[in-house]
Amino acid sequence: MSNDEVYAAGLLNRALDPATQPPEIQAFLRAELDLLHDVIMEGMRVIDVGCGTGRHLLLVRDRLRLGVGVDYEHSYIAEADRRAGGRHLHFVTGDATAIPVVATFDFAMCLTNTWGTMSDKTGVLREIRRLAPKPHTRLLSVYSEASVPSRREWYRRLGHEVLEDTREYLVTEGGFRSEHFSEARLRGLVGDCTIHPLADIAYVVTF
Ligand SMILES: C[S@@+](CC[C@H](N)C(=O)[O-])C[C@H]1O[C@@H](n2cnc3c(N)ncnc32)[C@H](O)[C@@H]1O
Repeated sequence: MSNDEVYAAGLLNRALDPATQPPEIQAFLRAELDLLHDVIMEGMRVIDVGCGTGRHLLLVRDRLRLGVGVDYEHSYIAEADRRAGGRHLHFVTGDATAIPVVATFDFAMCLTNTWGTMSDKTGVLREIRRLAPKPHTRLLSVYSEASVPSRREWYRRLGHEVLEDTREYLVTEGGFRSEHFSEARLRGLVGDCTIHPLADIAYVVTF
């Protein structure tokens, strides 16, 4: 299976159940929520690339003038729509390398190592830059190399034993592929950016 098939089979919903998450993963997910509270300001227009079922936009919805979430898995978008119930949040089915949106945004985010599961990383960055044209208003959160042991355990609990473990990615029995990054690799892929550690197993990249 490829990542799109794994997501279509509903992996995200099981992965977001805290009962499946090792403590390091729980700490990382909580740190992302705290980060959002710090970076999303009143009245912003925000796009979430690879939004899943929309939890991050839903968390900050009261601050937003407009929130748009994009994900290629239609069942996640349908669930996000159902949760949002309209009111300045919009969810769109589409690929992150060809986002069917022409508006521009004050802020773009791609969280929870979503970018690390996407095959055409440069194509996704191109779309993020188009949609949030001002530098330093674009944010990725991605796994560092230190995330490997806790991800191995998390994926095992989800029935995805890790079969391949390299310096750059893990591949599971179920065909799920997820990357991790060094600072040097991030700078090589993203170019001019700032990088900060997040929890003990991730980086926040702003560009
Ligand atoms: C790790 S999950 C995170 C979902 C969401 N950001 C969250 O934290 O709850 C990655 C998400 O990216 C979506 N995705 C992966 N590759 C994509 C692509 N090329 N285009 C659009 N969505 C993609 C998946 O369907 C999945 O919902």
